[in-house]
Amino acid sequence: MRGSSSKTLFLVNLAILCFICWVISLFVYLEAPSPVCQTMSTVADEKNYEATGSTEKPIVLLWFWPFDVKFDFQICSSHFNIDDCILTDDRSLYSQAEGVIFHHKTMSWQFENMPKEPRPHFQKWIWFDQESPTNTGKTPGLENLFNLTMGYRRDADITVRDEVKIKQTETKEEFVLPKKDKLVCWVVSNHYPITGTATREKYYTELSQHIKVDVYGVAFNGHPLKPEDYYPTLASCKFYLSFENSLHVDYMTEKVNGPLAVGTVPVVLGPPRENYEQFLPNGSFIHVSDFPDAKGMAEYLQRLDKDHEAYMSYFEWRKYYEVTPHLLTLSNEFIHPVCLACDHISKYKEYHVVNDLYEWYFP
Ligand SMILES: *[C@@H]1O[C@H](CO)[C@@H](O)[C@H](O)[C@H]1NC(C)=O
Ligand SMILES: *[C@@H]1O[C@H](CO)[C@@H](O)[C@H](O)[C@H]1NC(C)=O
Repeated sequence: MRGSSSKTLFLVNLAILCFICWVISLFVYLEAPSPVCQTMSTVADEKNYEATGSTEKPIVLLWFWPFDVKFDFQICSSHFNIDDCILTDDRSLYSQAEGVIFHHKTMSWQFENMPKEPRPHFQKWIWFDQESPTNTGKTPGLENLFNLTMGYRRDADITVRDEVKIKQTETKEEFVLPKKDKLVCWVVSNHYPITGTATREKYYTELSQHIKVDVYGVAFNGHPLKPEDYYPTLASCKFYLSFENSLHVDYMTEKVNGPLAVGTVPVVLGPPRENYEQFLPNGSFIHVSDFPDAKGMAEYLQRLDKDHEAYMSYFEWRKYYEVTPHLLTLSNEFIHPVCLACDHISKYKEYHVVNDLYEWYFP
C-alpha cells in the first residue's frame, strides 16, 4: 500500500511535520539553548575510542544522532556507570562495529540514510524507538532487518525505563515531605491531537472544573518551565498529573518518574492500573480508573489535602524502594538508551533476528 495514493503520502508528510513541530515545541518549552544548533559536537567528535586504547571493548556505532541532537557519550560512565563498550558516531568504524543503533524517527522512509555497505556477520542492528505505537510511523520494509529492539516495552530486547529500585540499605532517616504550596500541578507542552492527547485533555478539562490545577508548559498557555525549575516545581505540589499522551501497555514515561523522585503523588492516566502495579509499588500512585469520573477524583484529592496521615501513606514505599531522578534535557533523554545498548552489546553475544517488527509493535 506504500504510496498507493498521493493522499496517503500527504497525510504521512503531515504527520511527520506535526511531529517535528512537536519536538521543536519541546525545545521551546524547556527553554534549552537550542540543542540542535548549539550541540556537543566537539565532545562527540572526539575519538574517545582512541583515548581508551582498549581493543577488547566492542564498538557500538550510533548511526545518526536522534533528530540530529548530539550528546556526550561520557555520560554513560559518569552518570550510568556503563563503560563496557566504545561508543562512537564515526561511520568509518562501521565494518568493525558489533552494534549499530538506528533511531526510528530519524531513519528516512526510503532508507537513503541507512548503511550501504554489507553488514558484517557479527554485527547487530538495533531498532531504537521511545515513542508509543500511536506516535511511531510504519516505515515499510523493516522486517528481518534488525537484530534487537530497544524501547520502553518490557518485552523489548533492551528495555529502557526509569525503574523503582530496591534500597540496598534500609536507611533510618525518615522521609521529609517537601514544602507544598500547590495542590495539583501539570506540566504539558504537547497539545497535538494527532499524538493521541484527546483522552487526557478531556479528563483535565473535567477535573479542572472541580479542583484547581496549576498548569505549566506551552500547551494551554501555561508558563514555560526551565529545566532547572522542573523538579522544584513538581516538589511544591501535592499531586502531579502524570498523563501520558497515548494509552499503551507498558507506556509509562518520565511523567510518573518525576513526581515519584521528588516526593509528590502522581495521578496517572495511561494503561490500566494492573500494568502500573507491575512497575510501581501499590500505594505510590493514584489511578484515574480508581474513580468513576473526574469529579470523584477531585473530591478524593481534596479529602487527602485535609487528611495529612492519609496523604503521607502514599510515601510508605520509600522505606524500601527508591527512584532516581531522570536526566532532563532532550539530548540526555537519548543518552540513557544509547548507554544501555552499549552495555547489552558487550554482554550478550547471541544470534538474534527481529522478524516482523510491526506485528510485535502494533499488535
Ligand atoms: C492496590 O491498591 C488498589 C487500591 O488501593 C487495590 O484495589 C488493589 O487491590 C491493590 N493491589 C494489590 C496487588 O495489592
Ligand atoms: C542480524 O540480522 C540479520 C537479518 O536481519 C541476519 O542476517 C544476521 O545474521 C543477524 N546477525 C546477528 C549477529 O544476529
